Amino acid sequence: MIRHLLLVLCLAVAVLIGPEIGNVLDLIPGWDMVKSCIITDTGQSDAARDTVRLLDLQELSRYNGQQGSPGVYLSILGQVFDVGKGHKHYGPGGSYHFFAGRDASRAFVTGDFTEAGLVDDVSGLSPGQILSLSEWLSFYNKDYVLVGRLVGRYYSETGEPTEALKQVESAMVEGLELRAQAEADKQRFPPCNSEWSAGKGGRVWCSTQSGGVQRDWVGVPRKLFKPGSSSQRCVCVQSSRPTSSQAQASQQLSDRGDLDNPNLQEYQGCPSLAESCLLTD
Ligand code: HEM
Repeated sequence: MIRHLLLVLCLAVAVLIGPEIGNVLDLIPGWDMVKSCIITDTGQSDAARDTVRLLDLQELSRYNGQQGSPGVYLSILGQVFDVGKGHKHYGPGGSYHFFAGRDASRAFVTGDFTEAGLVDDVSGLSPGQILSLSEWLSFYNKDYVLVGRLVGRYYSETGEPTEALKQVESAMVEGLELRAQAEADKQRFPPCNSEWSAGKGGRVWCSTQSGGVQRDWVGVPRKLFKPGSSSQRCVCVQSSRPTSSQAQASQQLSDRGDLDNPNLQEYQGCPSLAESCLLTD
Protein backbone atom coordinates (compact mmCIF):
# COMPACT_ATOMS: atom_id res chain seq x y z
CA MET A 1 0.00 0.00 0.00
CA ILE A 2 2.80 2.35 0.99
CA ARG A 3 4.32 1.56 -2.33
CA HIS A 4 1.21 2.90 -4.04
CA LEU A 5 1.48 6.18 -2.19
CA LEU A 6 5.04 6.51 -3.39
CA LEU A 7 4.13 6.17 -7.02
CA VAL A 8 5.20 9.48 -8.52
CA LEU A 9 3.19 11.31 -11.12
CA CYS A 10 4.93 10.86 -14.40
CA LEU A 11 3.04 10.67 -17.64
CA ALA A 12 5.45 8.22 -19.17
CA VAL A 13 2.86 7.16 -21.66
CA ALA A 14 2.46 10.68 -22.97
CA VAL A 15 5.68 10.40 -24.91
CA LEU A 16 3.53 8.49 -27.34
CA ILE A 17 1.13 11.38 -27.72
CA GLY A 18 3.28 13.29 -30.13
CA PRO A 19 4.54 16.84 -30.23
CA GLU A 20 1.18 18.53 -30.78
CA ILE A 21 -0.16 17.48 -27.39
CA GLY A 22 3.23 18.23 -25.85
CA ASN A 23 2.65 21.88 -26.71
CA VAL A 24 -0.70 21.90 -24.93
CA LEU A 25 0.86 20.26 -21.91
CA ASP A 26 3.54 22.95 -21.76
CA LEU A 27 0.77 25.27 -20.57
CA ILE A 28 -0.08 23.13 -17.55
CA PRO A 29 1.76 23.91 -14.30
CA GLY A 30 4.06 21.08 -13.30
CA TRP A 31 4.23 19.64 -16.78
CA ASP A 32 7.92 20.51 -17.18
CA MET A 33 8.79 18.22 -14.31
CA VAL A 34 6.61 15.47 -15.69
CA LYS A 35 8.05 15.89 -19.18
CA SER A 36 11.62 15.49 -17.97
CA CYS A 37 10.52 12.37 -16.18
CA ILE A 38 9.07 11.03 -19.42
CA ILE A 39 12.26 11.62 -21.35
CA THR A 40 14.27 9.83 -18.72
CA ASP A 41 11.89 6.92 -18.63
CA THR A 42 11.24 6.21 -22.25
CA GLY A 43 13.58 8.33 -24.32
CA GLN A 44 14.22 6.11 -27.29
CA SER A 45 15.86 6.85 -30.60
CA ASP A 46 13.69 6.62 -33.71
CA ALA A 47 15.62 3.50 -34.65
CA ALA A 48 14.84 1.88 -31.31
CA ARG A 49 11.19 2.76 -31.72
CA ASP A 50 11.16 1.20 -35.18
CA THR A 51 12.45 -2.09 -33.85
CA VAL A 52 10.04 -2.29 -30.94
CA ARG A 53 8.82 -5.81 -30.29
CA LEU A 54 5.18 -6.41 -31.12
CA LEU A 55 3.25 -9.15 -29.34
CA ASP A 56 -0.27 -10.35 -29.92
CA LEU A 57 -2.58 -11.43 -27.14
CA GLN A 58 -1.90 -15.09 -27.76
CA GLU A 59 1.82 -14.63 -27.38
CA LEU A 60 1.43 -12.42 -24.32
CA SER A 61 -0.80 -15.02 -22.65
CA ARG A 62 2.08 -17.50 -22.75
CA TYR A 63 3.99 -15.23 -20.35
CA ASN A 64 1.81 -16.05 -17.36
CA GLY A 65 4.55 -17.39 -15.10
CA GLN A 66 3.07 -20.89 -15.00
CA GLN A 67 5.44 -23.85 -15.12
CA GLY A 68 6.90 -24.07 -18.62
CA SER A 69 6.00 -20.50 -19.57
CA PRO A 70 8.80 -18.40 -21.05
CA GLY A 71 8.51 -15.72 -18.33
CA VAL A 72 6.10 -13.28 -16.68
CA TYR A 73 4.87 -10.29 -18.63
CA LEU A 74 1.98 -7.93 -18.15
CA SER A 75 0.59 -5.18 -20.29
CA ILE A 76 -0.86 -1.84 -19.32
CA LEU A 77 -2.40 0.36 -22.00
CA GLY A 78 -0.66 -1.86 -24.52
CA GLN A 79 2.83 -1.41 -23.09
CA VAL A 80 4.27 -4.80 -22.23
CA PHE A 81 6.62 -5.17 -19.27
CA ASP A 82 8.77 -8.06 -18.13
CA VAL A 83 7.72 -8.42 -14.48
CA GLY A 84 9.77 -11.56 -13.90
CA LYS A 85 11.68 -9.91 -11.09
CA GLY A 86 8.34 -9.43 -9.28
CA HIS A 87 7.59 -13.15 -9.48
CA LYS A 88 6.37 -13.18 -5.88
CA HIS A 89 3.55 -10.80 -6.90
CA TYR A 90 2.79 -12.00 -10.41
CA GLY A 91 3.81 -15.65 -10.44
CA PRO A 92 1.44 -18.50 -9.51
CA GLY A 93 0.23 -18.01 -5.95
CA GLY A 94 1.13 -14.29 -5.98
CA SER A 95 -1.52 -11.76 -4.96
CA TYR A 96 -1.43 -10.17 -8.42
CA HIS A 97 -0.99 -13.27 -10.55
CA PHE A 98 -4.17 -12.33 -12.40
CA PHE A 99 -2.30 -9.48 -14.12
CA ALA A 100 0.21 -11.86 -15.70
CA GLY A 101 -0.01 -12.60 -19.41
CA ARG A 102 -2.71 -10.05 -20.18
CA ASP A 103 -3.66 -6.41 -20.37
CA ALA A 104 -6.02 -5.64 -17.49
CA SER A 105 -5.57 -1.86 -17.52
CA ARG A 106 -9.06 -1.22 -16.18
CA ALA A 107 -8.48 -3.24 -13.00
CA PHE A 108 -5.44 -1.11 -12.11
CA VAL A 109 -7.91 1.71 -11.55
CA THR A 110 -11.06 -0.01 -10.36
CA GLY A 111 -9.53 -2.74 -8.18
CA ASP A 112 -12.12 -5.11 -9.70
CA PHE A 113 -10.07 -8.27 -10.00
CA THR A 114 -12.90 -10.48 -11.25
CA GLU A 115 -12.69 -11.84 -14.81
CA ALA A 116 -15.24 -9.20 -15.84
CA GLY A 117 -13.05 -6.47 -14.37
CA LEU A 118 -9.71 -7.70 -15.68
CA VAL A 119 -10.05 -6.06 -19.09
CA ASP A 120 -8.09 -3.57 -21.15
CA ASP A 121 -11.05 -1.30 -21.93
CA VAL A 122 -10.91 1.86 -19.79
CA SER A 123 -13.78 3.68 -21.45
CA GLY A 124 -16.22 5.36 -19.07
CA LEU A 125 -13.58 6.02 -16.41
CA SER A 126 -13.09 9.61 -15.29
CA PRO A 127 -10.07 11.65 -16.47
CA GLY A 128 -8.71 11.49 -12.92
CA GLN A 129 -8.98 7.71 -12.88
CA ILE A 130 -7.31 7.46 -16.26
CA LEU A 131 -4.56 9.78 -15.07
CA SER A 132 -3.81 7.30 -12.29
CA LEU A 133 -2.91 4.78 -15.01
CA SER A 134 -0.02 7.03 -15.96
CA GLU A 135 1.27 6.61 -12.42
CA TRP A 136 1.18 2.86 -12.84
CA LEU A 137 2.99 3.21 -16.16
CA SER A 138 5.59 5.34 -14.50
CA PHE A 139 5.99 2.70 -11.82
CA TYR A 140 6.46 -0.12 -14.31
CA ASN A 141 8.86 1.94 -16.43
CA LYS A 142 10.92 2.59 -13.33
CA ASP A 143 10.89 -0.83 -11.70
CA TYR A 144 10.63 -3.20 -14.66
CA VAL A 145 11.77 -3.54 -18.25
CA LEU A 146 9.58 -2.46 -21.14
CA VAL A 147 9.70 -5.26 -23.69
CA GLY A 148 7.27 -4.20 -26.38
CA ARG A 149 3.75 -3.36 -27.42
CA LEU A 150 0.62 -5.41 -27.45
CA VAL A 151 -1.17 -5.44 -30.79
CA GLY A 152 -4.85 -4.90 -30.09
CA ARG A 153 -6.86 -2.14 -28.51
CA TYR A 154 -3.99 0.32 -28.06
CA TYR A 155 -1.52 -0.54 -30.85
CA SER A 156 -2.12 -1.47 -34.45
CA GLU A 157 -0.44 -4.38 -36.18
CA THR A 158 2.35 -2.03 -37.19
CA GLY A 159 2.78 -0.80 -33.63
CA GLU A 160 1.13 2.56 -34.18
CA PRO A 161 -1.02 4.07 -31.41
CA THR A 162 -4.71 3.46 -32.10
CA GLU A 163 -7.59 5.91 -31.79
CA ALA A 164 -8.41 4.27 -28.44
CA LEU A 165 -4.93 5.09 -27.12
CA LYS A 166 -5.17 8.66 -28.37
CA GLN A 167 -8.47 9.04 -26.52
CA VAL A 168 -6.92 7.69 -23.34
CA GLU A 169 -4.05 10.13 -23.69
CA SER A 170 -6.46 13.04 -24.17
CA ALA A 171 -8.27 11.95 -21.01
CA MET A 172 -4.92 11.94 -19.20
CA VAL A 173 -4.25 15.48 -20.32
CA GLU A 174 -7.71 16.46 -19.13
CA GLY A 175 -7.03 14.70 -15.82
CA LEU A 176 -3.79 16.62 -15.45
CA GLU A 177 -5.55 19.91 -16.13
CA LEU A 178 -8.33 19.10 -13.64
CA ARG A 179 -5.75 18.13 -11.03
CA ALA A 180 -3.86 21.38 -11.59
CA GLN A 181 -7.11 23.35 -11.35
CA ALA A 182 -8.12 21.54 -8.15
CA GLU A 183 -4.71 22.30 -6.66
CA ALA A 184 -4.98 25.99 -7.63
CA ASP A 185 -8.48 26.13 -6.07
CA LYS A 186 -7.16 24.55 -2.90
CA GLN A 187 -4.39 27.12 -2.63
CA ARG A 188 -6.84 29.96 -3.17
CA PHE A 189 -9.57 28.58 -0.91
CA PRO A 190 -7.94 26.22 1.63
CA PRO A 191 -10.33 24.11 3.71
CA CYS A 192 -11.22 25.35 7.24
CA ASN A 193 -10.54 23.52 10.47
CA SER A 194 -13.73 22.17 12.02
CA GLU A 195 -14.86 20.55 15.24
CA TRP A 196 -18.09 19.41 16.75
CA SER A 197 -19.03 18.39 20.26
CA ALA A 198 -22.41 17.56 21.80
CA GLY A 199 -21.94 20.26 24.44
CA LYS A 200 -20.61 23.14 22.37
CA GLY A 201 -21.98 22.35 18.92
CA GLY A 202 -19.99 23.05 15.77
CA ARG A 203 -17.18 25.48 15.06
CA VAL A 204 -15.17 26.29 11.96
CA TRP A 205 -11.99 28.34 11.97
CA CYS A 206 -8.98 29.26 9.90
CA SER A 207 -5.26 29.05 10.60
CA THR A 208 -2.11 29.42 8.52
CA GLN A 209 -2.12 25.69 7.84
CA SER A 210 -5.78 24.72 7.78
CA GLY A 211 -6.61 22.17 5.12
CA GLY A 212 -2.93 21.23 5.01
CA VAL A 213 -2.19 24.38 2.96
CA GLN A 214 0.82 26.20 4.43
CA ARG A 215 0.48 29.93 3.85
CA ASP A 216 1.29 33.34 5.29
CA TRP A 217 -2.33 34.40 5.72
CA VAL A 218 -5.08 33.06 7.98
CA GLY A 219 -8.29 34.03 6.22
CA VAL A 220 -11.89 33.98 7.36
CA PRO A 221 -14.33 31.05 7.16
CA ARG A 222 -16.92 31.06 4.39
CA LYS A 223 -19.23 28.54 2.75
CA LEU A 224 -18.03 27.91 -0.80
CA PHE A 225 -20.78 26.72 -3.13
CA LYS A 226 -20.11 24.78 -6.31
CA PRO A 227 -21.64 26.80 -9.15
CA GLY A 228 -24.97 25.28 -10.14
CA SER A 229 -25.06 23.00 -7.13
CA SER A 230 -26.29 23.21 -3.55
CA SER A 231 -23.23 21.38 -2.24
CA GLN A 232 -20.94 23.53 -0.15
CA ARG A 233 -17.80 23.26 1.93
CA CYS A 234 -16.06 25.47 4.45
CA VAL A 235 -13.05 27.34 3.10
CA CYS A 236 -10.72 30.07 4.32
CA VAL A 237 -10.87 33.26 2.31
CA GLN A 238 -8.33 36.05 2.10
CA SER A 239 -9.92 39.26 3.33
CA SER A 240 -7.24 41.49 1.86
CA ARG A 241 -4.60 41.13 -0.81
CA PRO A 242 -0.94 40.90 0.10
CA THR A 243 0.53 44.40 0.09
CA SER A 244 3.25 43.31 -2.29
CA SER A 245 0.78 42.26 -4.96
CA GLN A 246 0.86 44.15 -8.19
CA ALA A 247 -2.89 44.55 -8.12
CA GLN A 248 -2.70 46.32 -4.78
CA ALA A 249 0.11 48.55 -5.97
CA SER A 250 -1.83 49.66 -8.98
CA GLN A 251 -4.95 50.02 -6.78
CA GLN A 252 -7.08 48.52 -9.48
CA LEU A 253 -8.73 46.07 -7.10
CA SER A 254 -10.45 46.61 -3.80
CA ASP A 255 -8.82 45.63 -0.54
CA ARG A 256 -11.38 42.89 0.17
CA GLY A 257 -9.30 40.02 -1.14
CA ASP A 258 -11.61 37.24 -2.33
CA LEU A 259 -14.49 38.18 -0.05
CA ASP A 260 -16.71 39.30 -2.90
CA ASN A 261 -16.48 36.05 -4.81
CA PRO A 262 -20.11 35.26 -5.78
CA ASN A 263 -19.81 31.59 -4.78
CA LEU A 264 -19.12 32.46 -1.15
CA GLN A 265 -21.56 32.90 1.70
CA GLU A 266 -20.98 34.07 5.28
CA TYR A 267 -21.83 31.88 8.26
CA GLN A 268 -25.00 33.07 9.89
CA GLY A 269 -24.39 35.01 13.09
CA CYS A 270 -20.63 35.16 12.55
CA PRO A 271 -18.94 38.60 12.32
CA SER A 272 -17.78 39.21 8.77
CA LEU A 273 -14.05 39.26 9.54
CA ALA A 274 -13.96 36.71 12.39
CA GLU A 275 -11.37 33.94 12.02
CA SER A 276 -13.59 31.51 13.93
CA CYS A 277 -17.34 30.92 13.65
CA LEU A 278 -19.75 28.99 15.86
CA LEU A 279 -22.22 27.11 13.71
CA THR A 280 -25.82 28.01 14.28
CA ASP A 281 -27.40 26.66 11.08
C1 HEM B 1 -6.82 -0.73 -7.20
C2 HEM B 1 -6.38 -1.51 -6.23
C3 HEM B 1 -5.03 -2.16 -6.24
C4 HEM B 1 -4.21 -2.48 -7.28
C5 HEM B 1 -4.46 -2.31 -8.76
C6 HEM B 1 -3.00 -3.04 -6.72
C7 HEM B 1 -1.93 -3.49 -7.45
C8 HEM B 1 -0.72 -3.93 -6.93
C9 HEM B 1 0.38 -4.40 -7.70
C10 HEM B 1 0.42 -4.47 -9.21
C11 HEM B 1 1.38 -4.73 -6.86
C12 HEM B 1 2.76 -5.27 -7.22
C13 HEM B 1 3.72 -4.10 -7.33
C14 HEM B 1 5.11 -4.56 -7.75
O1 HEM B 1 5.27 -4.99 -8.89
O2 HEM B 1 6.04 -4.39 -6.93
C15 HEM B 1 0.90 -4.50 -5.52
C16 HEM B 1 1.61 -4.74 -4.37
C17 HEM B 1 1.08 -4.65 -3.11
N1 HEM B 1 -0.18 -4.24 -2.78
FE1 HEM B 1 -1.64 -3.68 -4.07
N2 HEM B 1 -3.10 -3.05 -5.37
C18 HEM B 1 -4.32 -2.53 -5.02
C19 HEM B 1 -4.81 -2.36 -3.75
C20 HEM B 1 -4.16 -2.73 -2.61
C21 HEM B 1 -4.69 -2.59 -1.28
C22 HEM B 1 -6.07 -2.03 -0.97
C23 HEM B 1 -3.75 -3.06 -0.43
C24 HEM B 1 -3.74 -3.15 1.06
C25 HEM B 1 -4.74 -2.82 1.85
C26 HEM B 1 -2.62 -3.45 -1.20
C27 HEM B 1 -1.44 -3.95 -0.69
C28 HEM B 1 -0.32 -4.28 -1.43
C29 HEM B 1 0.94 -4.75 -0.85
C30 HEM B 1 1.22 -4.92 0.64
C31 HEM B 1 1.81 -4.96 -1.91
C32 HEM B 1 3.23 -5.49 -1.81
C33 HEM B 1 4.22 -4.35 -1.79
C34 HEM B 1 5.64 -4.88 -1.82
O3 HEM B 1 5.89 -5.98 -1.38
O4 HEM B 1 6.50 -4.17 -2.36
N3 HEM B 1 -2.89 -3.25 -2.51
N4 HEM B 1 -0.37 -3.98 -5.61
